Amino acid sequence: MADEHFHRWIQSLETRHLADLTFSEVSRALRALSSTYVERRRRLTERSALAGAGKRAAFALFYGPLHYLLVREIVRALPGAAVGSPTLVDLGCGTGASGVAWAYECSRRPRVVGVDRHPWVLGEAARAYRHFGLSARICHDEVASVSLPKPPASLLAAFTLNELQDAPRDGLLRRLVERTSRGDQVLIVEPIARLAARWWNKWRDIFVTAGGRGDEWRFRVDLPAIVAKLDRAAGLDHRELTGRSLWLSP
Ligand SMILES: C[S@@+](CC[C@H](N)C(=O)[O-])C[C@H]1O[C@@H](n2cnc3c(N)ncnc32)[C@H](O)[C@@H]1O
Repeated sequence: MADEHFHRWIQSLETRHLADLTFSEVSRALRALSSTYVERRRRLTERSALAGAGKRAAFALFYGPLHYLLVREIVRALPGAAVGSPTLVDLGCGTGASGVAWAYECSRRPRVVGVDRHPWVLGEAARAYRHFGLSARICHDEVASVSLPKPPASLLAAFTLNELQDAPRDGLLRRLVERTSRGDQVLIVEPIARLAARWWNKWRDIFVTAGGRGDEWRFRVDLPAIVAKLDRAAGLDHRELTGRSLWLSP
């Protein structure tokens, strides 16, 4: 059932995002977007990453599904992660992909709150939540200062913390770790990239000392046809998905 929803979601993304753009326009935009993300990540601003229809289409149609698949596999692999909570807050929800993946793996589907400061991605996230039949709300706010729901909640930040400055990131992580003593679960996901996360080791140690874990993951997954085609056309190779996570639960 989850797979069916996932495949129908990919089809709807493909139909919408390839309605006004050709495949080669999107794959060209994907090449530019992936160089922004991977090679110049430290100079990334959301404005440059999501400027223009081509990059938005590439983000929604390529990175969204990849993030969904990676987070789904991580949640399946982390004991207790699929138990879930009444509310799941997706901090920096983007197009909603990672939050949907976690929510959909939970034995009792949580209500989802997608938080982002970019209006365009919030529209995409709202569509994704609707598509998967999740009870959800979008919230246009800053992740570092947004107010969090009453515990217990599942708190997710996937591919977001790297975009924050050091001080707000440290403040948010401190707040998330504190919330686990009130019953929340916290999952942080980032790419494996030496230069992309200098702050990682410090926070991995804090999570581990608090009873949590830090993992690096490699998963072989079947990519949806359009994602595999974009991957090849942009000279990328995501037949193996990689990522790292921090996990802490009460
Ligand atoms: C790389 S995307 C990841 C999106 C999504 N979590 C996923 O896994 O696909 C990072 C998202 O974080 C959002 N973001 C970055 N800094 C933010 C901030 N300070 N407050 C709110 N959203 C932020 C961006 O607008 C973007 O949508």
